[in-house]
Amino acid sequence: MSELQQKVDQVIAVLAEAARDYAPTTFANSLGAEDMVLTDLIARHQPDIEMFSLDTGRLPQETYDLMQVLRTRYPMPLHIYFPAAAHVEEYVAKNGVNGFYDSVENRKTCCHIRKVEPLQRALAGKGAWITGIRREQAVTRSTVELSAFDAEHKLQKFNPLLEWTNADVWAYIKQHDVPYNKLHDHFYPSIGCAPCTRAVTPGEDIRSGRWWWEDPQNKECGLHVGKSMLLKQV
Ligand code: ADX
Ligand code: SF4
Repeated sequence: MSELQQKVDQVIAVLAEAARDYAPTTFANSLGAEDMVLTDLIARHQPDIEMFSLDTGRLPQETYDLMQVLRTRYPMPLHIYFPAAAHVEEYVAKNGVNGFYDSVENRKTCCHIRKVEPLQRALAGKGAWITGIRREQAVTRSTVELSAFDAEHKLQKFNPLLEWTNADVWAYIKQHDVPYNKLHDHFYPSIGCAPCTRAVTPGEDIRSGRWWWEDPQNKECGLHVGKSMLLKQV
């Protein structure tokens, strides 16, 4: 059995455990390459796991295009959560529509309104959530665990692709002809909101195109504030 197939089998086992022991289980789908692998595996092996996406209102067109493709390719619905309109209106009135460039605090407030609060609604009443986090993605992710209680959101959190390499992700995508975000073909390894994501140059860190004007220690949006990350987030 190939090394990749072994990793795939481990993910299938983790998904089965999450669905069996922690139902209702939901998958946070950003439509990045890792999340497309998980979408495909969930569709094939564990379709009872629900799936949602946080639409910040500032996503790139290519991400919306992929959301549309997902509807025809996979049978499970993708539930979309939007930020609270009143909070966005208040933030924009105070800071301007691109106010997140002005300070780390402004940036984190924007992420809070557009991602963290909607995430709380998406996770309400669930027993577990699944993410596409990989260890090698960032310094802030080096001590993350495969499965752990998420004290912030009060449910179990699974990161089934934790030990996958970038090459594993792409090998799976090619092998199963999984649809992916076209921005990945244009040197965007990690994709978030359009104004806060840019292309990287060869050899640069995977997440260096995210909030590129900030210090790497700070580069989390607040969705993932585990034990290890809390220390680094102020
Ligand atoms: S982020 O949290 O800083 O944006 P990243 O883009 O690497 O991180 O995504 C890590 C994981 O967080 C994804 O695999 C996915 O599970 C979840 N996630 C990130 N953004 C979204 C989103 N917009 N909607 C749903 N889940 C998301
Ligand atoms: Fe706002 Fe940028 Fe965070 Fe998106 S990534 S929620 S635009 S600060």
